[in-house]
Amino acid sequence: MFHHAAMRFELGGRRALVTGASAGIGLEIARELAARGAHLTLAARRLDRLEALSRELEAAHGIEVDVLPADLAHPDGARELIAACSDTPDIDVLVNNAGVGMHGDGVGHAWESERGMIQLNVVAVAELTKHFAGTMRERGCGRILQVASTASFLPCPGYAAYGATKAFVLHHAEALDEELRDCDVRVLALCPGSTNTDFFEISGNVRGRAQVATSLDPVDVARLGVDAIQRDRRVTVPGLANKLTTAGLRLIPRRLQATLARIVLE
Ligand SMILES: NC(=O)c1ccc[n+]([C@@H]2O[C@H](COP(=O)([O-])OP(=O)(O)OC[C@H]3O[C@@H](n4cnc5c(N)ncnc54)[C@H](OP(=O)(O)O)[C@@H]3O)[C@@H](O)[C@H]2O)c1
Repeated sequence: MFHHAAMRFELGGRRALVTGASAGIGLEIARELAARGAHLTLAARRLDRLEALSRELEAAHGIEVDVLPADLAHPDGARELIAACSDTPDIDVLVNNAGVGMHGDGVGHAWESERGMIQLNVVAVAELTKHFAGTMRERGCGRILQVASTASFLPCPGYAAYGATKAFVLHHAEALDEELRDCDVRVLALCPGSTNTDFFEISGNVRGRAQVATSLDPVDVARLGVDAIQRDRRVTVPGLANKLTTAGLRLIPRRLQATLARIVLE
């Protein structure tokens, strides 16, 4: 049995692949990893933003940064990203952060958009995780951070399919992490609640007062995510209000969870 509880995963000199590093939480995770000495491979669709971030981080931290264009909502996107990574050094840390939400009428959403969200939030995450967890296990070591959500913990009317994609991400991470208990590869889940990024605008949602009041800063979410990588924290829920909510949810029936979620989210 590998005893990892008291150890700290050192990031200096390692290479981390961060998806969705062009904005929001992923951009801040890239900054945090760079500040702790990791070399980076950054992926997203907006290459100009990745290049600007690359210049910033190479200058500030003396690390190496590669940027790769990737559209992970496309069925070939994850496979192409994996192929592109074969030209860069081995990936020691994978952060599956790229993701989008869709708010509103779950039955009425255009299928092409919803299929793209499921491809991005679920299929690409599973594909990248399978590949890199495999190469990490062969090399004997690695860390994967999945950006899930507080939405992973309950049915989410108003975000029906999005919430379900995030439930997949959390359950998949926890199960794989348990499967991998005897080797030094961890699959960890970061579960932010409402965070101040472009997420809501892109989702077509205006947040309610309760959501705005408990919103997190992506800088804080990113710091906790990178702490989770270094400390092997299986599930991280940032923020006291979110911790209390997700813990309290366990005490009430799922039907009531759905009703309460509808009142907050719809
Ligand atoms: N903000 C919140 O309240 C919140 C709460 C819980 C969980 N999360 C999760 O946090 C993660 C990051 O979201 P965020 O809040 O930081 O939102 P954001 O600011 O909109 O960032 C989303 C990132 O994902 C990338 N992305 C979107 N579509 C993509 C595609 N087809 N292919 C590749 N990359 C794509 C975007 O890059 P390009 O547009 O350049 O491709 C961007 O870098 C998501 O998984 C989200 O579900 C967010």
